[in-house]
Amino acid sequence: MSKFMFVTDLDNTLVNHNTSNDHDLKILNQQLTHYRTEFGAKIVYATGRSPKLYSELAAEKQLITPDALVLSVGTEIYLDGDNTPDKSWAEILQTGWNREKVIQITSGIAELKPQPDSEQRAFKVSFFLEKGDSEKILQKLDTELQKCGLNIKLIYSSEIDLDIIPQNSDKGQAMKFLRQQWKFVAEQTVVCGDSGNDIALFTSGDERGIIVGNARPELLEWHNENPTENRYLAKNICSAGILEGLKHFGFL
Ligand code: GLC
Ligand code: MG
Repeated sequence: MSKFMFVTDLDNTLVNHNTSNDHDLKILNQQLTHYRTEFGAKIVYATGRSPKLYSELAAEKQLITPDALVLSVGTEIYLDGDNTPDKSWAEILQTGWNREKVIQITSGIAELKPQPDSEQRAFKVSFFLEKGDSEKILQKLDTELQKCGLNIKLIYSSEIDLDIIPQNSDKGQAMKFLRQQWKFVAEQTVVCGDSGNDIALFTSGDERGIIVGNARPELLEWHNENPTENRYLAKNICSAGILEGLKHFGFL
């Protein structure tokens, strides 16, 4: 068995919030721990959560300690249990990013409701935006931000969360940064997700992708428009879907 790098989103992908029966999560944790110890597999969590919200989830559900944590939609990478974000990744994101300018432009748009302070990060400005307003507002916002020459991208997830982050960051680019550090090729990398902010994990189409059975419409629509045999749509939800996908690709 060759080693692999396992990258997963947390909410509604690894973790099912609708049950306290975490049987499948426990099985997956056991398998991953085994492959890490025996074959040097690497485990990465890639989430939109801030450090604060990640610690809350880790206190609530049984999560094994990852080899790297990708937080705040890929704008922060924590290696080997470090408490401070990786400096070389932060340096890459710094170029062309202007947080103050983003705040200035967004403050004029009433439909954008700021998320809690804990979710406002050095390289991430986040809002709640109702679906009904989203198309119009996203277009307007994009035009305004581009006009100012800001090097940013908008990520809209779960019909409510809007993240504004540097153009050269997202979960997918953070995953590639780690892949290069650890020297895993795309074929040895598996990525799992359920919603809009996970699309970046799947875009190159070279990694082995698992979309869990409970995926949100925005990800399913994107998947249908960008099909590849390297991506597997699981029938089962959350951890059970991940186990199904890992078997499909022959990793387990
Ligand atoms: C998490 C974060 C939030 C973000 C969302 C989508 O819920 O806490 O800030 O908007 O993920 O990326
Ligand atoms: Mg999710």
